[in-house]
Amino acid sequence: MTMELTGEQLKMTETQLKRYLPRSQQVYGFLVLRNRVRSDSVRVLVDRWPEFNVIVCKPQYEQKGDCFKDTLVFAKDEAILEETIRKSSVIDWTQYLCLGINLRHLEIFKAVASEKDVSSSKLAVCHMMILEDVSNLPSIDSSGISLSSLEESHVGLVTQMWKFGKNEGAARMIRNMIANFPSCCVLDAEGKPVSWILTYASCAMGVLYTLPEHRGKSYAKVLVSTMAKRLHAQGYPVYCFIEEENDVSYGLFTSLGFIEDPSYREAWFGFNDFF
Ligand SMILES: CC(C)(COP(=O)(O)OP(=O)(O)OC[C@H]1O[C@@H](n2cnc3c(N)ncnc32)[C@H](O)[C@@H]1OP(=O)(O)O)[C@@H](O)C(=O)NCCC(=O)NCCS
Repeated sequence: MTMELTGEQLKMTETQLKRYLPRSQQVYGFLVLRNRVRSDSVRVLVDRWPEFNVIVCKPQYEQKGDCFKDTLVFAKDEAILEETIRKSSVIDWTQYLCLGINLRHLEIFKAVASEKDVSSSKLAVCHMMILEDVSNLPSIDSSGISLSSLEESHVGLVTQMWKFGKNEGAARMIRNMIANFPSCCVLDAEGKPVSWILTYASCAMGVLYTLPEHRGKSYAKVLVSTMAKRLHAQGYPVYCFIEEENDVSYGLFTSLGFIEDPSYREAWFGFNDFF
């Protein structure tokens, strides 16, 4: 480690990562979006190139509260992953880190962290749900539902309702997502959003939420279907992460045809206590 990829290399790596789906889904989705849309700057590092073994998407931590800018890791070889995170400077173990990794690689990260006397805490363990074929989406009656994209003025509401919204930096992340990536919401008669869905920097759909008094009206289903079609039409992968304990959301996505690879889980872990 390490070499930083730029320009054409990023495009070639996107193509290479396709071969490793679904394990490479997050980093692949990140590159698909990054190669088409400008947003917060993230460095993409590999152990070697073009035949890389480990790839790390590393956001710039500029200010306290940038904890939601997660570092994404994909590795083809576990021994090289371990060697890389132990010896190279690609992972800065001296500051807070939020890592999105294959759950299978978690023990490697934990072992290296404890050698370095760095604490770790679980943030989320998720099912990864993928929609292979958008043409199989069930048709849902969306007549009378007013759909729109989210706007800057909605950042406060979306952040406030988000599970992780109380943390410093959450609003900045939501603002970046609303400004740069696809989003969709249901508006009430006054033009206020009552249900919404966003896209993360990894191209995963997320932050799905319906105000409690508007639940059970199919708003979430309409939003997920609309967004899935839009992402697919733009050449983006269609997928999302659902926390293991979120049965309502799991049921919602499976009823729309999303499937998971049961052998795969994505984990988000924080290192060097932040919260
Ligand atoms: C998950 C959530 C977005 C669903 O929103 P919604 O607009 O009510 O969803 P829909 O009306 O489209 O319903 C979709 C499915 O959710 C389930 N559901 C909806 N309301 C429910 C309720 N009150 N109790 C149990 N299940 C419910 C049903 O299975 C429904 O499918 P069905 O109509 O075929 O039975 C909403 O409950 C929510 O905001 N939850 C908190 C945040 C969250 O968990 N987000 C998802 C993160 S991945």
